[in-house]
Amino acid sequence: MKAYKTEFLANRNIFYIASFSVFLLQIISMSITILSIESSCDDTSAAVLQDTTLLSNIVAGQSAHLKYGGVVPELASRAHQQNIIPVVDLALKEANIAPTQLNAIAFTRGPGLLGSLLVGTSFAKGFSIANNIPIIEVNHLQGHILAHFIQEKNLIKEVPKFPFICLLVSGGHTQLMLVNNYFDMETIGQTIDDAAGEAFDKCGKTIGLPYPAGPIIDKLSETGNPLAFQFNKPKIQHLNYSFSGLKTSFLYFVRDQIKQNPHFIEENKNDLCASLQHTIVDILLNKVKKAVKETGVKDFAIAGGVSANSGLRKAAIAFGEKNHINIHIPQAKFTTDNAAMIGITAYFKYLNAEFSDLSTVPIARMPI
Ligand code: KG4
Ligand code: ZN
Repeated sequence: MKAYKTEFLANRNIFYIASFSVFLLQIISMSITILSIESSCDDTSAAVLQDTTLLSNIVAGQSAHLKYGGVVPELASRAHQQNIIPVVDLALKEANIAPTQLNAIAFTRGPGLLGSLLVGTSFAKGFSIANNIPIIEVNHLQGHILAHFIQEKNLIKEVPKFPFICLLVSGGHTQLMLVNNYFDMETIGQTIDDAAGEAFDKCGKTIGLPYPAGPIIDKLSETGNPLAFQFNKPKIQHLNYSFSGLKTSFLYFVRDQIKQNPHFIEENKNDLCASLQHTIVDILLNKVKKAVKETGVKDFAIAGGVSANSGLRKAAIAFGEKNHINIHIPQAKFTTDNAAMIGITAYFKYLNAEFSDLSTVPIARMPI
């Protein structure tokens, strides 16, 4: 009897060890494939990631807003409705992935335009039901920051080491974040009024540039003198920013100059752009220097639409070299809104088993 029991226990242990090994092997060898959707503003985007590797990232912009000088929310949501199915279809085709191979669908829950977010959220819910896969909600701002962890096939990219400081600069946000871990992010400074992208876009409008003026100002600055004109820089406490004073200073300066010379803008466009860009970059980096000094961190990253700016990228690299700080500059395609950044964030949430349920609704204002 005793011998039988010992043999039984030994067999049972072997069974447990074997099953546990199979489970471990599954975890180790199983890759997670996620389809992600981004529709927070005026870009409809879908991406497919396998673990951290990007398989496809399709972005459809919207030309409907061009003549209005800014994004018209109702036009944006209508365009998302038209674009979302073809964009998702293309993303799956390019990735060579069938819906049955997906482990989850992710979407941007906020912040953003409510009508635009609603299109992506509703699509994700429908797709989740149809394909019997979980949904994962993602904070758009976390997405911009975690875009630094996207890897591409045959291209190993060095990722920031925790803790790092991230300057998140977009059309709606300007924030300095202390990133302790994927989902432990602390706001250590932020704008008290306009965002840096807004300053680019609104000053651009003053000199007749279409929306979004940021990339055009960047281009025109290449042949302008950054020291041609001086604009007011804000004196804001701590690590906070302000851009509304600069916007007003730029507007009054241009208006006064036009009174003396009606052709002032045309004759000085490149110098105006270069001087404005130089001022914005200077304001942004001054607080970064302070933040790095105060926290003592050794890694610094930039993220968000304005991080595509060549002046900011150059200044950040120069700052890193001078101060022995590791600088992380995202590829241009991951700076402005894209679904790849939503997919990478969803991947880290998947590993934590952080899924949403179908009662989830979008949120226009959603802090990190
Ligand atoms: O992150 P994003 O695509 O959308 C938001 O979440 O806001 O950022 C859009 C902003 C716009 O203000 C646009 O003018 C600005 O990013 N931007 C740039 C550049 N590319 C985009 N600003 C300056 N230089 C650029 N190269
Ligand atoms: Zn964005």
